[in-house]
Amino acid sequence: MIRIDFQNVLDSKIGARNGLSKSFLNDFLKKSEPLLKKVLKSEDKPGYAFLALPEDTKTVQAIHKFAKSQKGKWQNIVVLGIGGSALGGIALQDSILGNWHNLKNKPRLFFVDNIDPDYVESLFSMIDFKKTLFVVVSKSGGTVEPMALYAVAKEKLLKTVKKTFRQHLVFVTDPKSGILREMGNKEKIQMFDIPPNVGGRFSVHSAAALVPAALAGINIEKLMRGAKKMKEEIKKSHGEKNPALLLAALQFLMDWKKGKNMVVMMPYSNRLYRIADWYRQLLAESIGKNSKAGPTPMAALGTTDQHSQLQLWQEGPEDKWIIFLRVLNQASRLKLGSHLPSEMAYLKNRAMADALNAALKGTAESLAKSGKPNCTIELNQINEETVGALLFLLEVQVALLGELYGVNAFNQPGVEQSKIMTKKILSR
Ligand code: PA5
Repeated sequence: MIRIDFQNVLDSKIGARNGLSKSFLNDFLKKSEPLLKKVLKSEDKPGYAFLALPEDTKTVQAIHKFAKSQKGKWQNIVVLGIGGSALGGIALQDSILGNWHNLKNKPRLFFVDNIDPDYVESLFSMIDFKKTLFVVVSKSGGTVEPMALYAVAKEKLLKTVKKTFRQHLVFVTDPKSGILREMGNKEKIQMFDIPPNVGGRFSVHSAAALVPAALAGINIEKLMRGAKKMKEEIKKSHGEKNPALLLAALQFLMDWKKGKNMVVMMPYSNRLYRIADWYRQLLAESIGKNSKAGPTPMAALGTTDQHSQLQLWQEGPEDKWIIFLRVLNQASRLKLGSHLPSEMAYLKNRAMADALNAALKGTAESLAKSGKPNCTIELNQINEETVGALLFLLEVQVALLGELYGVNAFNQPGVEQSKIMTKKILSR
C-alpha cells in the first residue's frame, strides 16, 4: 500500500558529505527499535492515545449513524475549528474527495479556520444558513478562534432559523471539560468526543476529522481500516522494512548527523498537498520544543514548486532534505492529445500522469546528483485506505521523533502562551 524509496539519502548514491552509510543507518534502526516499542506500548499515556484510535469502532459506528441521519438534509457543512481541529479534516477532504468537490457535490464542505472577518463574512454571506450544518471542533473547547466563529454563526442562525438552531449545530470536543462541552450540555446540542488523551494535531482519526468527513460522504470505515493495517505493519516489521522507524530515523539523522534542519514535504499531487500542510503542523508543534530540537517543516507541491523553490534546494544552502509523495496509479488517465509542436513530440498522446511522474523522478535524480538528500513515499493510489494509513504512519513517525529528540511531542506550551496572551489583551 505504502513504500518508501530512500536510495537518495545513502552515501552510495549522493556521496558522503550529505549521505548516510547503509551500515550506520541499519545500526541506528536497530538501536531505535526499543524506542518504537516503547511508543507502541504507551496507548494509555497522555498524548499517545491516538495509537488506539484505529480500533475505536464504536465511535466510527456512531458517527456513521449520525451522518446517515443527516443525508440529503444539507447544502453546506461548515466546520469551525483551527490548528489540529481543522487541518486533518481539510487533508481528508482534498485527498479523498478531490480539490473541486464543492463545485459539483452536495453537501459542500467548508473549513473556516481563521478569524479574518473578510474571509468569514464573505462565506457566511454566500451560504444559505437554513441549509447549513455547522460543526464546531475544539479539543479544549475554549480556543478564541472557534468560539468567535461560533458566536457569529449562532447569531445569524438565531435570526434565520430561530428556535430550530440546535438542529444546525454539532460540537466535537473533550468528553468532559471545556466551555464548549458545558454549552453543548446546556443547549442540548448533538456532540461527539475527542478522547481525553488525544491532542489536536494527532486527532485526524478521531471525531475531530471523522465527523466532517462522514457528513461529506467519505467512507470512514475504510479510512480507519487503512490506519489499522498500517498499525499492524509498524508493530510487526523490523529495520528498514518498518516505515515509521525508517522515516523517523531518516528525519533524525538528516538533522542531527547531516545538519539538515529543514524538511520539505512535496507531494506530486494536488490532492495530497494539504497532507503536507497537516504534516507541517504535526512536526513543527510536536518537535519544536527547544533551541536544539525542531526541524523546520515546509510544504511544497510538485510540479508547481519546481518553478518556484527548486532552484534554492538545488544550489542554495545545504540545510534541507526533501520527502516526495508519489502516487503510482493516478485515478485520472487524462491524455495530452496530439496538438503539440514537433519539438515537443515526446509529450504527444502521453498520459498526463506520466509527465507528472517523470517530473518527480527527474527532480529527485537531479537533486541526488547534486548531493541533495531526498526520499519518496509511494502510495499505490489515493483512496480512504491509503490516506488513513499514510496519516497514521506520519503520526507514529512524529511520536517516535519525540523520543529520539528527547522532547514531549504532545504538548504545545508556546501555543498555549499565545492563547493566554490573546485572552488577556481581549479582556483589558
Ligand atoms: O495540535 C494542537 O493541539 C493545536 O494545534 C490545537 O489543535 C489548536 O490550538 C486548536 O485547539 P483546540 O482544538 O483546543 O481549539
